[in-house]
Amino acid sequence: MKKFRVGIIGCGRISPFHGMPAKSQSNATVVACCDLVPELAKARAALFGCKATYTDFEEMIQKEKLDVVHICLPHYLHSPVAVRALELGCNVLTEKPMAISMKQAEAMVAAAKANKKTLGVIFQNRYNAGSQLVKKCLDGGLLGEIKAARATVTWCRTPEYYTSSLWKGTWEQEGGGAMIDQAIHTIDLMCWLIGYGDKGCNLARCDVDISNKDHSKLRNASGKPVDVEDSANGLIVFKNGVKASFWCMNYYSFDDKIEIVLDCENGTARIQAEEAHVTLNDGREFIAKPDPADVFDYGGGPSYWGASHAKQIEDFYTALAEKRQPWINGELILQTTHKMIMGLYESGRTKKPVTFKK
Ligand SMILES: NC(=O)c1ccc[n+]([C@@H]2O[C@H](COP(=O)([O-])OP(=O)(O)OC[C@H]3O[C@@H](n4cnc5c(N)ncnc54)[C@H](O)[C@@H]3O)[C@@H](O)[C@H]2O)c1
Repeated sequence: MKKFRVGIIGCGRISPFHGMPAKSQSNATVVACCDLVPELAKARAALFGCKATYTDFEEMIQKEKLDVVHICLPHYLHSPVAVRALELGCNVLTEKPMAISMKQAEAMVAAAKANKKTLGVIFQNRYNAGSQLVKKCLDGGLLGEIKAARATVTWCRTPEYYTSSLWKGTWEQEGGGAMIDQAIHTIDLMCWLIGYGDKGCNLARCDVDISNKDHSKLRNASGKPVDVEDSANGLIVFKNGVKASFWCMNYYSFDDKIEIVLDCENGTARIQAEEAHVTLNDGREFIAKPDPADVFDYGGGPSYWGASHAKQIEDFYTALAEKRQPWINGELILQTTHKMIMGLYESGRTKKPVTFKK
């Protein structure tokens, strides 16, 4: 069996959530790690069982003849690094967010097409037991039509979170704050469940207030002011008339469980972190919790990152072997989640509602 030769670009906090699952695939072998900080690349290489380390990703791709790279970099680098890696003949799996502008994301999809390579974007929480249960109940008609939805994310990003990062907290490098970094998963899930995911985009409009209420006096490790939003309050309206509201902030006292509630014709679906509870008006109840036997050892990491990276990464490698698109591919995300996140920021910045054209 052909084994894909894999490299990890960016050896910071999330990288074990890529390197460990990639290492466990029967059709892949992690051969090299790259980081501007050589010690980080060396430490991850030791964890993933490979020897080669680099500080330049292009050199790594060329010298190691890589088939796949995982991009675990600051947000503003996702697009330029993905485009170059695709041009150099690699398939790419990038962390969320896809990019920090529409133009950047479009360039990634164009590069994947032009070079006939695969582009995947991580939204691992769609694979959670709770998300899957609610999606099944909606698709199977059990819940009936969705009447309205709401979501909350109240997490904690301390001053140290910013003062220890060279890139967080800035529009140029993080591309935003609480929405694009923390709440993006929950907003993605809520909108995917309402139905834009696999059936094309049915976003109609959005209207969002964003503000920096508690972090504005902070500076990050580069000395740049933390001027991105630390709270957002928004409404997303879908073409079918469903109104989805969300509230997110990242200056709470701890990372509380995210919550999504869908009020439906035949009952209510409630997601809390990785779990879900579906209550039907006829008294039936369905509960989904993570299967304790279904664990993957990433070697650490906070629980709010969830446990589903391994599932999405397995689909990515299966898709490569089967020469099909992975489920959560760049083209799909560009037309749905990415378009929506960029719309939310346009509305937040201009303080006006944004209408989605198609
Ligand atoms: N899916 C999730 O649940 C989840 C959770 C955490 C982080 N993330 C995402 O993962 C990505 C990385 O986040 P992180 O927390 O690991 O960041 P991090 O700052 O800990 O790591 C980024 C690493 O990239 C390296 N780097 C920067 N520029 C580079 C370059 N040009 N070449 C090589 N290396 C370079 C840095 O030295 C650093 O080690 C972000 O997109 C973030 O949003 C996703």
